[in-house]
Amino acid sequence: MKLNVNGSLHDIPETWQGETLLSTLRELLGLVGAKFGCGHGDCGACVVHVDGKAKRSCQMQVSDAFPAHIRTLEGLEGVGGGLHPVQRAWLDERVAQCGYCQAGQIMQAVALLEENPEPDKQSVVERMRSNLCRCGTQARIFKAIHRAASEMRGKS
Ligand code: FES
Ligand code: FES
Repeated sequence: MKLNVNGSLHDIPETWQGETLLSTLRELLGLVGAKFGCGHGDCGACVVHVDGKAKRSCQMQVSDAFPAHIRTLEGLEGVGGGLHPVQRAWLDERVAQCGYCQAGQIMQAVALLEENPEPDKQSVVERMRSNLCRCGTQARIFKAIHRAASEMRGKS
């Protein structure tokens, strides 16, 4: 089985095919952006994109991710290369504290803005509610999403 991750095909040995997508990304492919938080689908630290949708990779067997296109934090980039506007906004708003939840937060935010380029406050709150942050960065996350949305609309 070949898994398409960030536009590259990776051989997944048969012995791995019962593993979660999260452990495959981290332990087999060395893509450690997505984090193991709870392992139960509750925290969102493991969010990656599966065919453009935000999914909890701890809740998915890698065999169920085939033949989808997987995108991880490592695969994000802006138009013409460099940081994605959401990543830039995260830096500009100094969102991260310990950082553990942030890859999942960013991937959730990118999926939101790809689905809805102009989300209202309620949509942002509802969407991001499922991504937990024990450091209390939510207010800065909301500001960063607003900043990134404005930038992305300005460039489209
Ligand atoms: S580690 Fe997947 S939801 Fe918490
Ligand atoms: S920045 Fe520490 S858990 Fe979110």
